[in-house]
Parts: sequence; structure tokens; C-alpha cells
Amino acid sequence: TDPARIRNFCIIAHIDHGKSTLADRMLQITGTVPDREMRAQYLDRMDIERERGITIKSQAVRMNWEVDGQSFALNMIDTPGHVDFSYEVSRSLAACEGAVLLVDAAQGIEAQTLANLYLAMENDLEIIPVLNKIDLPAADPERVAREIADLIGGDPDDILKVSGKTGMGVEELLDSVVARVPAPVGDADAPARAMIFDSVYDPYRGVVTYVRMVDGKLVPREKILMMSTLSEHEALEIGVSSPEPTPTKGLGVGEVGYLITGVKDVRLSKVGDTVTSKLRGATDALPGYTDPKPMVFSGLYPLDGTDYPVLREALDKLKLSDAALQYEPETSVALGFGFRCGFLGLLHLEIISERLRREFDLDLIATAPSVIYQVTTEDGKEITVTNPSEYPTGKIMSVREPVVRVAILAPKDYVGTIMELCQSRRGSLMGMEYLGERVELRYSMPLGEIVFDFFDHLKSRTQGYASLDYEPMGEQEADLVKVDILLQGDQVDAFSAIVHRDNAYAYGTMMAERLRKLIPRQQFEVPIQAAIGARVIARETIRAIRKDVLAKCYGGDISRKRKLLEKQKEGKKRMKMVGRVEVPQEAFIAALSGD
Ligand code: GTP
Repeated sequence: TDPARIRNFCIIAHIDHGKSTLADRMLQITGTVPDREMRAQYLDRMDIERERGITIKSQAVRMNWEVDGQSFALNMIDTPGHVDFSYEVSRSLAACEGAVLLVDAAQGIEAQTLANLYLAMENDLEIIPVLNKIDLPAADPERVAREIADLIGGDPDDILKVSGKTGMGVEELLDSVVARVPAPVGDADAPARAMIFDSVYDPYRGVVTYVRMVDGKLVPREKILMMSTLSEHEALEIGVSSPEPTPTKGLGVGEVGYLITGVKDVRLSKVGDTVTSKLRGATDALPGYTDPKPMVFSGLYPLDGTDYPVLREALDKLKLSDAALQYEPETSVALGFGFRCGFLGLLHLEIISERLRREFDLDLIATAPSVIYQVTTEDGKEITVTNPSEYPTGKIMSVREPVVRVAILAPKDYVGTIMELCQSRRGSLMGMEYLGERVELRYSMPLGEIVFDFFDHLKSRTQGYASLDYEPMGEQEADLVKVDILLQGDQVDAFSAIVHRDNAYAYGTMMAERLRKLIPRQQFEVPIQAAIGARVIARETIRAIRKDVLAKCYGGDISRKRKLLEKQKEGKKRMKMVGRVEVPQEAFIAALSGD
């Protein structure tokens, strides 16, 4: 295809503002998917995505659209909307020349609208602002149009109004994509360079790599090279999604399509990497490649210990399609055998645990999420801690923690309560801006404070109206300590936490109290202590009882006695021993999940 007849664009929107519905409508109106095959959310293939209404993996689809008798190829690149995948968002944006900025006309601008808009502007994309859901009675297009115009300039009256649901205004939108998004430019005679913006594992075809050609061309059967890993492959098939995969004779400048090389592991085909041809290779990779690094860590344990091999297999499988997932085996006194896993963020953690539950039928418990701490000991050693158990025991010089830039958008009535919450989480206010009836609050905040139920608190304080987004902004030194929980002097590993010194007492008393309520009485008195190193900061006591199951049998019926004894033995199977103390595993699980 002549690059002059190509338009590459994406749709950026806050979650639920109707991106998938609009994309579906475009597929239908351009005739890419025949009406009879249309089903809701054609592009979101994963079940969890459809159910939760979120887009996890980006994909590209090619549509034909005619303007004034000329035919254009529109490549729509779907971007994940959530911050956890911001690296994937930014790669998808880098594959486009334009972005449709979709805003729900009943809701207005939200935190992720802004985050994605800024990313699009950094990538120099042509922005086409669009008001969606104008069919809704609650829509307030004038107000929201003004909000958008305040933000990006221009005349509020020029902003397109559409309904992805009814299809109203969608043809005009497609026309304006052709008119306003610049055609791609590249050097057709240069060595091939294609940017990988997505890479998906397909159980039948292996890894499907989505690319945007920048220079030159790639043809089927040619030997290709991944420039960051120098791994070599053969392009077994090259094609475009329209939206079903359709093989082509190759991809040229500005085109968007897929490659299949027969590899089985997405790590060999990384998002952001540059593909070139082996024989006539490019010397410089396209800019911007970085390895996504996990930011949030948690231990995942099967509730039923015999499920451990299933969990291992499941993680191995998920890893094939998710290059950012990390894990290694870990054992815990309280929870048995499990895995320490690294995630891009909280949503990533949630998605993975949900998939383990659903696709592999696993019942799991997750330990409290932790972030990466850099600890310097007094003798000058630098230790990276992603798990409280790795925290050094000796004297500590300093601890550094990751800090993020947080943006919160909410109706202005909630400013007070949001500020209070952010302050209690050690946030410092960096800026505040009014956007019509709403306000944007910008904070710098330790990531460790956000991974701990921050979003839940934010939602409940604002009746669900606040939206949140965050991005890494480096590290800071902080007065952090490790709090251990001891049962009769023995440490219960899964309960150790790294917290700010000011919160150590609160954490310690909360956990000790929870455990006192959940652990059954023993034959002897059991102290529960919270300690920083050797210093005890809180204490609770479980009083002793004499547990005599036979007491109420009055020495009578012998078979009844046996039954009771057997029952008691069965009960013991799920018991964990911490030193001499017997604890039902359920107690640990309940204490961790806060029920
Ligand atoms: P994410 O994938 O989570 O980013 O969501 P999304 O932006 O793709 O939103 P989606 O298309 O799933 O739409 C969210 C909700 O809004 C769904 O319940 C849709 O039915 C509804 N919706 C989308 N577009 C319109 C519209 O134009 N009018 C009305 N009334 N409802 C819409």
C-alpha cells in the first residue's frame, strides 16, 4: 500500500468511556466485520477482559474507508487503558500518527484520559478529541467540550460528538481520521526496521508479533533479527488483521501487521524491540526500548498444598504470553509452598491471580503486596529487597523506597477528604488544578503506600467518583523498619512487613489483634508479639485452655469417642506448627486477607 493511503491511529480513553464499543462500531461501519458476525467487543478476546470491561492486550486491525472515491487503509491500534501497562500504551502510541481522544460526555475527563493524552502528546500524535455517549440523557456535551477545549485548546464547537452505541457521528469521525491524521513517512529503500508494539501467545500458532513498519519492507520466509536480543527467526507468515489474520506478500513503509515465527515464548519477541532483516540489517534500532520491570511483589500460595505443581505449571503457561510476569519458588511456615511473583502494578497482580483462579481453577492466597527497597547496611552493603524476609538483620544506614507521581481526578467537593487520605499515606502535594466542576490533585507518594488498599479507600471516600493514575518518579530515602510478628517467640514469616516507623505500631497491633481473635486457644498461654528487630512494640495473649474433646462423653459410648478422636485428627491435617503452637491455616489466611 502507498503510505499516502495509510492512516495509523489509536483510541485513547479512560476505562469505561466506550473505547471498545466505538471500535466495534467502526469495524461494522467500514464493513470489516459483517453485521451477522458482529458481537459485542469483538476486539477484546480474553474472557476476563470482556467481563471486567478492561482491555489488557493491544491489537491492531485494518479497515478500509473511502473518502471522495479514494480508498484508505486505516490501521486502528488498540491501547491498554491502564497505567500498569503504560509501557505497552506508549509503544502502541509510538506506532501511530494520530489518536482519537475519547471522552464520555456524561463523565468528562478522568485521570487516565489525562495520562494517555500526555503520552500521546509526547509521541507528537495528532489528537482528535471526541465526545462519546451523546445518546445518554445524562450527557452534558457543552460542559465536557469546554473541559476538553480548556485542556488542549481549540473551539469547543469543533469537537466531534458520537455515540459508539448507536453509530451516530462515527462516519464523520472516520472521515476526520483520514483528513487529520498524517500519513506515515519512512524510507522504503532503507534496511527494514519494524517496531514491535505487541506480542501475543497463541496456543496454536505460537507467538504472534504485531509490528509497525518504519523503513524498508519485510517479506514472508525471510530471516529476521530482533535487535535487542539478537535472536534470529524465520518469518513463517506475515499478514494483517482485518480483523481475522490474513497473510500478505509482505509489509512496507507505514504498514501495520503481524509476524509469525514459530517461537513459543513472548520473551523472544519483546514489546518495544526493533525487527530487521538478517541479510540486510539496520544498524540502529528504533528508539525507546526498555525492559518492563516489575514494581509490585507478592507471594502466591495454593490453599490446598497439593495444588502446588498445578500452580507452577499455570505460571509457566502465563509467562509465555506475559513477558513482564516474574516468579520464583518460596516457602513459608504459615502458608507452605508457593511462589514469589513480580508484577507491573496492582492491576497486573489482580489480573494474574484472577486468571490463575479462573483458567486453572486454583484457590490462592496472596501475601500483602510489597515494593522494591534499596537497603544500605552499616558496613556499606547494598541490598535489593522485594520481600520482607530479605531485609537485613544488622545495623542499617539507609533505606530507599520507590516514589510515584499520582494524579487524582474527582468532583471538587471531595478535595478535603482526598487530601486527608493522601497525607496519611505520606503524600506531598505537588499541584492542584480545577477543570470545570472537577479538580486534579497531583501528589508524590511512596508506591508502598499505594499498593496497600489506597485505591479502595480513595473510592469509598469519594463514593466511587475519584479516578487515579500514577507513574514512577524515582526513589527517596525514608525511615522504614521491618515489623515481625512472633508467636511464642517464633516468627510467622508471611506477616512481616516493611513499613514507615510512624506506622509500625499500628501495623503491629492490628496484626497481633487479628491473630489473637483467629488462633484457637492452646494447652498453654501463647504470647503474640510485634517486634522491630529485638524490640517488642505490641503484645497480645491467647489464654490457655485444656482442650479435652472427650470431656462431654461421660465415659459412655466408645464408638462415639472414637469418632470424635478421628475428627480431631482430621482437623489437625490443616494445622500449621509455629514452634509449639498449632494454628489452623485458615486463621493465617483470614488474618492476611483482613476478614
Ligand atoms: P475499557 O476496555 O475498560 O477501557 O472500556 P471501554 O472504554 O472499552 O468501554 P466499553 O466500550 O466497554 O463501554 C463501557 C460501557 O459504556 C459499556 O457498558 C457500554 O455499553 C457503554 N457504552 C459505550 N459506548 C456507549 C454509547 O455511545 N452510549 C451509551 N449509552 N453507552 C455506551
